[in-house]
Amino acid sequence: MDLIAEAAAVRENAHAPYSNFKVGAAIRTSAGTVYVGCNVENVAYPEGTCAEAGAIAAMVAAGEREIAEVAVIAGSPDPVPPCGGCRQKLAEFGARDIPVTLATTAGQKRVTTVGELLPGAFSAHHMD
Ligand code: THU
Repeated sequence: MDLIAEAAAVRENAHAPYSNFKVGAAIRTSAGTVYVGCNVENVAYPEGTCAEAGAIAAMVAAGEREIAEVAVIAGSPDPVPPCGGCRQKLAEFGARDIPVTLATTAGQKRVTTVGELLPGAFSAHHMD
């Protein structure tokens, strides 16, 4: 299954009764493993988590830390970019030039990179 298909499959499991906006994310690591996540909302709204955060948590819990490629999919009119917090989370584990494919359930696709999504990212270097 390609990465967008993996993201589309896990999107079906999203818990999004408040926004009715389901999102799926899939990460391929440098080892070639795929981890997936979906958004999980909560009645206490700020406690909800994004699809990307779920996929990253699954990757780290499995003992991996190097993202090679990302796909995110939602049923939006155009490919929805990750929120600001998720951009920072992706930058923690993915190099600036890795591809991030943003897709819609209707078949649109936009390929960008972690560096394009978060120019001037705060990084460990800034704490030297
Ligand atoms: N959401 C994600 O899961 N990922 C994104 O990239 C954008 C937003 C979720 C959070 C919330 O559950 C819903 O979409 C509406 O904001």
